[in-house]
Amino acid sequence: ASSLQEVSKPSASSPSNGDEYADVDWDNLGFGIMPTDYIYMMKSSEDGSFEKGQLNRYGNIELAPAAGVLNYGQGLYEGTKVYRKGDGRLLLFRPDQNAIRMKMGADRLCMPCPSIHQFVDAVKQVTLANKRWTPPPGKGTLYIRPLLMGSGPILGIAPAPEYTFLIYTSPVGNYFKEGFAPLNLYIEEEFHRASRGGAGGVKAITNYAPVLKPITRAKSRGFSDVLYLDSLHKKNLEEVSSCNIFLVKGNTISTPATSGTILQGITRRSIIEIASDQGYQVEERAVPVDELMDADEVFCTGTAVGVAPVGSITYQGKRIEYNIKAQSVSKELYDILEGIKTGLIEDKKGWVVEI
Ligand code: COI
Repeated sequence: ASSLQEVSKPSASSPSNGDEYADVDWDNLGFGIMPTDYIYMMKSSEDGSFEKGQLNRYGNIELAPAAGVLNYGQGLYEGTKVYRKGDGRLLLFRPDQNAIRMKMGADRLCMPCPSIHQFVDAVKQVTLANKRWTPPPGKGTLYIRPLLMGSGPILGIAPAPEYTFLIYTSPVGNYFKEGFAPLNLYIEEEFHRASRGGAGGVKAITNYAPVLKPITRAKSRGFSDVLYLDSLHKKNLEEVSSCNIFLVKGNTISTPATSGTILQGITRRSIIEIASDQGYQVEERAVPVDELMDADEVFCTGTAVGVAPVGSITYQGKRIEYNIKAQSVSKELYDILEGIKTGLIEDKKGWVVEI
């Protein structure tokens, strides 16, 4: 007995390129949840394998009160975005990388995981089923949110007896309310995002509730998000709650190495590759917080966030300001990445999957 909501009829007054569109104010998308038509669901069978999933109408799901995910946080999430091309085709960006990352996370959290093929196929199915919710070109994207969770009941601390793989979607615009305006970050010294040996390097859902307190505090003081330091030395940069971080100094671009406490962002890896192709020297290493002082430019990367320039960072009561130039390195890299994702620049890397 699930409470499924009625699917609204497509609006007659939608942008026309031969496709139907849902009745959405496409010019004012933020990063909020909007129910779409379908979700994808696949439950593990008794031997723990995933065999057959299905599209269900969007709606609430049922969970046992003792579900592993509810009690012990046995869960992972992923995020990827779908772009609509001018000709109506839909473009996915490196969905296999999300599948691979989910596999790594599933291993860390003792969960069985759909195969890469099953994952990508499910993303394609749910994307096509919700096509009318994919914003017109240039107005935003359809955000795809895969989840993997211990859905079976368990009382002692142990892997759950059953797992659910689920995907829902939502049309989105900019993640930050700042839009394309530079971010103002706050460096947190009291709280840390992850510690050595923990699960900071995978997309465990349990990495996100602990950042709510520092984010809420920072936002109430006017900051966009929080930048965390390593929990051991409180000296090296880690990442922002919602994205990875990069520093530019001359021709060198540096980003903290992902050695277990930092999320292996797909945008992060794509930007590293694009920057190397463009002739920058890219360094993945420990980046001391002091290097922020004389960086030419700082920017953030993430699926939800995209490539976002940083305008200021506040650390120990001092505000470091960055001069945002029209021709910045982050803009150069953003334009290339966005061009590939939207089909405007030829994809020579096999990153884009057209459906
Ligand atoms: C994403 O970039 O998709 C994330 O996982 C981050 C979250 C801030 C929405």
